[in-house]
Amino acid sequence: MARSSPAFTCTACGAAHGKWAGRCDACGAWNSVHEEAPLSTAPKSLGARGRTIALSDLSAKEAPPPRAPSGMEELDRVLGGGLVPASAILVGGDPGIGKSTLLLQAAASFARAGRKSLYISGEEAAAQIRMRAQRLGLSDAPVILGAETNLRDILTTLDAERPALAVIDSIQTMWLDSVESAPGSVSQVRAAAHELVTFAKRRGVAVILVGHVTKDGQIAGPRVVEHMVDTVLYFEGERGHQFRILRAVKNRFGPADEIGVFEMTGDGLAQVTNPSALFLSDRDRPAPGSVVFAGMEGSRPVLTEIQALVAPSTLGTPRRTVVGVDSGRLSTILAVLEARCGIPFAEQDVFLNVAGGMRIGEPAADLAIAGALLSAREDVAIPPDMVLFGEISLSGALRPASQTENRLKEASKLGFSQATLPSRSKPGPAEGMRIRQMPDLAAFVGEMFGPR
Ligand code: TYD
Ligand code: MG
Repeated sequence: MARSSPAFTCTACGAAHGKWAGRCDACGAWNSVHEEAPLSTAPKSLGARGRTIALSDLSAKEAPPPRAPSGMEELDRVLGGGLVPASAILVGGDPGIGKSTLLLQAAASFARAGRKSLYISGEEAAAQIRMRAQRLGLSDAPVILGAETNLRDILTTLDAERPALAVIDSIQTMWLDSVESAPGSVSQVRAAAHELVTFAKRRGVAVILVGHVTKDGQIAGPRVVEHMVDTVLYFEGERGHQFRILRAVKNRFGPADEIGVFEMTGDGLAQVTNPSALFLSDRDRPAPGSVVFAGMEGSRPVLTEIQALVAPSTLGTPRRTVVGVDSGRLSTILAVLEARCGIPFAEQDVFLNVAGGMRIGEPAADLAIAGALLSAREDVAIPPDMVLFGEISLSGALRPASQTENRLKEASKLGFSQATLPSRSKPGPAEGMRIRQMPDLAAFVGEMFGPR
């Protein structure tokens, strides 16, 4: 019989490889393919007959899942309204970003709301967690603590305790004695996640798994368990910024594009209920290269500042440095500016940055990015009370973004009085703002920076 289990696995995405490779074909990660002890998966022959399973149709009425709000509004929004019993949630993020802090605070608010909450750490001793809780002012919350890595013992304990919520910090430290490879390997992480997800479904417990995003490839990353859980959240932030963003990337029980915004303070994570005000707070005078983008994050409009710097390059291949926006997007916009508007950037270094450590994935940011690049290149400031949004197509035409009215409403609320958008957008009542609508990028360049 052919060997069914691979000898090499990618620790970033879990793909199986027949032999070692420097780069994983499946996800493109470097140095992430490692040998793993093959699972003892000699398939047993299906000699005995299985039993027939119960089947049903689609018509039976199902009530929406009951939800337990945590009381942390930013967390509840990302979860789609609260924790769903019998669900498994993965919270991924870089080491040190604040996952343990967030989940200890979440467990405490659940416990205070009268729901039995367990926090099991495989990384810290109970004394360390108690010290953290003291610093966070959570010592009085009735959270039950455990420090353990043996999953068999943890599952037995959970079975006996029957909590409403169990936090497992982190999935990479858990190990099952039935799996031969070392803790942190792809097979251990997968097997441990499988046991915990099965337990969640069987016992009606909401289980939150913490997963470190790993850089060196020795330890399996959270992506290898993404497909097993109901909800995947990533906790992101730039080092050096105090803002942290909790982003839903998959949610079987709610929208998958919501964000929650937090600020890391001396005593834990504070919720930021008006992120636009925060991301714009340190804007001062009109400055060339600085533009405000009226974006949407899930159901919520968020205004962010996009900053660009364009300087003559001394390098053969000029520099393109991007923070907070996909670098492919920047290249596309530069190419469209050159091809459709005749504005070259070939001899210029370009630096692009989203203020406050925010990440923007929306194509609607294109017009604001182009505005920032042009404003920096021409050294002409865009009026500081103006917001921009709209997608740029390769032909140079501007395409309308979704939810134009919501974006304008938020901008008006924050004191902006002008907006530039694509011709085909429907601004609605526009909240008393002065609206300029442009059919394409060339018209925008002519209007803002004069004819060329
Ligand atoms: P932590 O929750 O341990 O990160 P993770 O579990 O994702 O690895 O967060 C650690 C960082 O957060 C650490 O660098 C210190 C900082 N921090 C604060 O700034 N304020 C606080 O109240 C706490 C508890 C941590
Ligand atoms: Mg931690």
